[in-house]
Amino acid sequence: MYTSKISGLGHYVPENVVTNDDLSRLMDTNDAWIQERTGIKERRHIKKGDGNTTSGMGVKAATIALERANLSPSDIEMIVFATLSPDMYFPGGGVQVQELMGMDTIPALDVRNQCSGFVYALSVADQYVKTGMYKHVLVIGSENHSGGLDFSTRGRGVSVIFGDGAGAAVVSRNTDGQGGILSTHLHSEGKHKDELALQGPSTGYWVPEIIEKNPQEDIPYYPYMNGQFVFKHAIVRFTEVIMEGLKANGLGLEDIDMLIPHQANLRISQFIQKKLKLSDDQVFNNIQKYGNTTAASIPIALTEAWELGKIKDGDLVVLAAFGSGFTWGSVIMRW
Ligand code: ACO
Repeated sequence: MYTSKISGLGHYVPENVVTNDDLSRLMDTNDAWIQERTGIKERRHIKKGDGNTTSGMGVKAATIALERANLSPSDIEMIVFATLSPDMYFPGGGVQVQELMGMDTIPALDVRNQCSGFVYALSVADQYVKTGMYKHVLVIGSENHSGGLDFSTRGRGVSVIFGDGAGAAVVSRNTDGQGGILSTHLHSEGKHKDELALQGPSTGYWVPEIIEKNPQEDIPYYPYMNGQFVFKHAIVRFTEVIMEGLKANGLGLEDIDMLIPHQANLRISQFIQKKLKLSDDQVFNNIQKYGNTTAASIPIALTEAWELGKIKDGDLVVLAAFGSGFTWGSVIMRW
C-alpha cells in the first residue's frame, strides 16, 4: 500500500470581475443584501469572446499545477474532472482535458457531486494512487456557472451566489514519506436531492409527473435552491464530517493548521468556525472575491492559501465540503 500527496496546485479565474453593483443593474438586488447574507463582494464571470470554457479553464489551472509538480502532461496517468456545469451534456469534461492537453489515451473520469465534487474527486485519485495503480492523477474542479443562471430578479436568490473558475491538484505517489493524504470521508443523502437541483436538461425532466411536480416548470434550465434548508443542513454536516475525519486519525480540533471549507457562503464558514472554536488563522475564506464556485472552490482556495504562505510543510490541512445531493465529505492531509 502506498500513500498519496498533492504534488502541485493551480487555479484560474476569468479576468471579468462582476461586482454586486453590476448585478444590481440586471436585477432587483443590492450590495448590502448580498454582502450581509453571503459575504460576497464580487465574482468572476466568463465574458463572451474571452474563449473560456469549463474544460478550458480546467486546463489553465492544470497547466499551473503540473508545472509546480515538475511534471509534464505525459506523466499523468488518469484525469478526474469534477463539475456541475460541463461544456456538453455528454461526454464529460475529463475527455476534453485529455484532448486539450495532448495526453495519451489515459482514463478520464467525470465526477458530479456538485459542491462536494472536488473532495469526491480527490478521494478517487487518492484510492488509485494508494493501491499503486497510478503514480500521478490530475484532479480538476471547474465551473462555468454564469452560462446557466437566471440574471433576472426571478433568479436573484441563486444567481448572486455563484461564480466561474477552476482549480487543479496533481495527486502523486508519496515517495519522500513527507506529509500526504491521511484519509477521506464521503457521504450522501439523496432524499434531499430536490432542495438544490437543476432539473433540465435531463431525461427525467421529460417525465410528465416530474414536470407536474417541478416548482419552476417554466424555467427548467435554471437551478432551484431552498436556501434556508440548505444552510441548516450544511452547518450540521460540515461540522460532523470534519470531526469524523479528525477522529479517524486520532486528532483534535487544536491540531488543525488550516481548514479550507467549500466556499458556499461566508456565513456558513463563519458558523462552522465559531461552532468548532477555531481561530481566524485556522480557517481560509476567499468567497468574498470569487463567490461560490462549487467544485472549483476548494482547489481555488487551497491554491491561494498555499500561495500566500498560509500552508507550510508539516501542517495539518483539512478540506470539507457540502452541497447538492445532498453530498458532503472531508479530506485530512499532512502537508
Ligand atoms: N437581493 C435582494 N433580495 C433578495 C435576493 C437578492 N439577491 N435574493 C432573495 N431576496 C429576497 C427574497 O425574495 C426574500 O424577500 P421577501 O421576504 O420579500 O420574500 C428575502 O430576500 C429573504 O429571502 P430568503 O431566501 O429568506 O433569504 P435568506 O436570509 O435565507 O438568504 C440565502 C438567502 C443567502 C440564499 C441563504 O438562504 C443562504 O445562504 N443559504 C445557503 C445557501 C448556500 O450557501 N448555498 C450554497 C451551498 S451548497 C452549494 O454550494 C451548492
